[in-house]
Amino acid sequence: MARPNLALPGQPRSTLATVTSLLPYLWPKGDRGAHVRVVLAVGCLIAAKVATVYIPLVYSHAVDALSPKNSFVVIPVALIVGYGLLRVASAGFGELRDAVFASVQQRTVRRVAVETFQHMHRLSLRFHLDRQTGGLSRAIERGTAGVQSVLRLAVFNVVPTLLEVLMVTGIIWRLFDWRFAAVTLAAVSVYIGFTVAFASWRVHFRRTMNDVDSEANTKALDSLLNYETVKYFGNEAHEAQRFDDAQRRYETAAVKTQVTLNMLNLGQAAIIALGLTAIMLMAANGVQDGSMTVGRFVLVNTYLMQLYQPLNFLGFVYNTIKQGVVDMEQMFRLIQVEQEIADRPGATTLAAHRTHGTPGAIVFDDVHFGYRPDREILHGISFTAKAGAKLAIVGPTGAGKSTLSRLLFRFYDVTGGRVLIDGHDIRDVTQSSLRAAIGVVPQDTVLFNDTIRYNIAYGRVGASQAEVERAARLAQVHDFVVRLPEGYDTKVGERGLKLSGGEKQCVAIARTILKDPRILILDEATSALDTRTEQEIEAALRNVSADRTTLVIAHRLSTVVDADEILVLVDGRVAERGTHASLLARDGVYARMWRLQAEQAAVDRPETEVIAAE
Ligand SMILES: Nc1ncnc2c1ncn2[C@@H]1O[C@H](COP(=O)(O)OP(=O)(O)O)[C@@H](O)[C@H]1O
Ligand SMILES: [Mg+2]
Repeated sequence: MARPNLALPGQPRSTLATVTSLLPYLWPKGDRGAHVRVVLAVGCLIAAKVATVYIPLVYSHAVDALSPKNSFVVIPVALIVGYGLLRVASAGFGELRDAVFASVQQRTVRRVAVETFQHMHRLSLRFHLDRQTGGLSRAIERGTAGVQSVLRLAVFNVVPTLLEVLMVTGIIWRLFDWRFAAVTLAAVSVYIGFTVAFASWRVHFRRTMNDVDSEANTKALDSLLNYETVKYFGNEAHEAQRFDDAQRRYETAAVKTQVTLNMLNLGQAAIIALGLTAIMLMAANGVQDGSMTVGRFVLVNTYLMQLYQPLNFLGFVYNTIKQGVVDMEQMFRLIQVEQEIADRPGATTLAAHRTHGTPGAIVFDDVHFGYRPDREILHGISFTAKAGAKLAIVGPTGAGKSTLSRLLFRFYDVTGGRVLIDGHDIRDVTQSSLRAAIGVVPQDTVLFNDTIRYNIAYGRVGASQAEVERAARLAQVHDFVVRLPEGYDTKVGERGLKLSGGEKQCVAIARTILKDPRILILDEATSALDTRTEQEIEAALRNVSADRTTLVIAHRLSTVVDADEILVLVDGRVAERGTHASLLARDGVYARMWRLQAEQAAVDRPETEVIAAE
């Protein structure tokens, strides 16, 4: 079991601190039902243990009543019936406790999981790009399982057992004297100490066993997958050797695991026997000198035997809790990772939808930015896009075009200068209102593994079928969808891979149309379309962008001819700016790019009509 290395900041906390951090979840503010349940469960826990502790007491009284003190024996019916009832109570309250606590426990697990999940979405794009998503979701999965097992074992095992040890020691002290109590406590302490120490030493063998096991499996699988290669080189013996190596290590680890378990059990039994013998010798002395009845002799024995029962699982419990705490800790540390991009206190809201406001005015004011401090990508970019204007950004790949859109969307904060929308620095408005105001059709569209309808409606959760179809028509994807056997219910596959690049882009455009934002960013939104579809969609996009501020990042210049201003971005600097006509007249970078593409288009024309570009 290789654990994902999440490389999280912060120091690991102690086991106790981690377990304590669960407490607020067990006592959720304002949830009266949960409070009642917790109190009830604690009540049941105590009741169960009181009943358990009384069982040997009643038993010993019954023994005394049966021993022929006087010449006749009375059958102690009440005592025996009482004994039976106590046994029922002991078990019954135990079960009741579990039942009452179950919903608190599961609620806690759910809340912790959801909180972590929400936090994942709050964390920055930088955080997510730096980590494997699979690792994060596994951390949540393991963490919740950890919470589950820590709660269950702590509440149902450790706490009740400790309570029982305390109660039994107290009773023995009262009934006999402090020496009996001291021996009992000492025996239990030695037992616990030995078990915990031994179990934590032993866990290492078990882990090796699991690791080696999965390694052997991987090797076997890989070897069989490469069946042909093995044959080409006649390496069957070599493969068998490698497999056997892994198996041999498994064998060693497995034997060690078994032998140490036997040693653990043996040690535990020896400690029990020692404690029992000592205490019974003391009791036998008491019986002999008449200070103690036979019932009392039976009583100490029963108490010790009863105490050792739950302690039997201690090794397992200890290791499980330890592992659970490690897994929980991982998850809690995820929750503690600070938000890189956070709302400023008192951040204002930006008008979001077109219906609520006019198109947004965008200003980039001497913006500097680098993903890493040692490599600046944008070196002082300034431009203004008036409300409703169409601004185009063109330039070679890697120039920083998409980076501009990420800054506007505030996936990252600028390292110098500022970005304004409607005169507000975007760091002064809430992220949710900022993002609601901007629609992005990204360069690489990924879709949810769900239906086409779901993916389009994602632009505005709860949109009706009619609205979805309207958006799909505008994005030129409706006709394609209705021709599919399952229409809008067609599943798009993982990350949308069952659709062609162009179809995916159309779906992405449709869902942005549905979002109806005041600012539209098209990041090479039509790059995967063939020229004809692109022209069709261009018309649609022109409609859509008519009364919004639009930022078009394009690679094919034919799509930006009508822009109010065109920026030519080269290596993070604005190399040229102006309208299409003025840039052509200038005969610089843009004019060169334009000529090149025109030639290309002339050469490609016959194919591009039928074959999708890229
Ligand atoms: N998350 C990232 N971390 C580090 N560097 C990045 C990251 N994203 C992009 N870059 C780099 O920033 C530069 C600009 O990227 P980008 O804005 O996507 O270019 P383009 O103009 O083609 O859209 C590229 O050199 C790219 O390698
Ligand atoms: Mg890009």
